[in-house]
Amino acid sequence: MDVLINEAKIQSRIKEIARQIEKEYEGKQLVFLGILKGSLPFLWELAKNIKNDIRFEFIEVSSYEGTESTGKIKINKDLTESITGKDVIIVEDIVDTGRTLTFLKEYLLERKPNSLKIAALLSKPSRRVMEIGVDYIGFQIEDKFVVGFGLDYDQKYRNLPYVGYIE
Ligand code: IMP
Ligand code: MG
Repeated sequence: MDVLINEAKIQSRIKEIARQIEKEYEGKQLVFLGILKGSLPFLWELAKNIKNDIRFEFIEVSSYEGTESTGKIKINKDLTESITGKDVIIVEDIVDTGRTLTFLKEYLLERKPNSLKIAALLSKPSRRVMEIGVDYIGFQIEDKFVVGFGLDYDQKYRNLPYVGYIE
């Protein structure tokens, strides 16, 4: 396993984003809406560095067969609390084609949150198929398949404390 982004770099970048969010949402209650399962480490590192009242919500999605052409996303586990009127930040591990977040944003906006932003630890801009605005990005990376810090290969490697790739 080769290290792409080491633990110290991840932690310090997350702290920067945390400070930015704290400033932008001063004194407000927030909902961190994590996309299972990959967002968990990022969501937690971000949340623990922010003093606001942060509520956690989770949604689990997967791609339908043939998603490359249809871009259809299936919801495996839906929200359990209402997000209507709330200030919501979707927390995701990585934005690749942008299909997941494009679908989710539309789906969540139907529930009329007060505001909806997106935070992603990683982004692969060269892979984008759908234009999606990401408000907070940890790192832009090249087109490599990465694992660790929540990201998996066949459900493996999620618990690595760094982002790595297999040559
Ligand atoms: P998108 O809908 O194409 O943006 O896909 C986003 C999802 O694909 C992420 O939530 C990840 O689960 C998965 N994914 C994309 N690139 C990688 C990668 O390099 N490593 C692990 N998972 C990835
Ligand atoms: Mg994912």
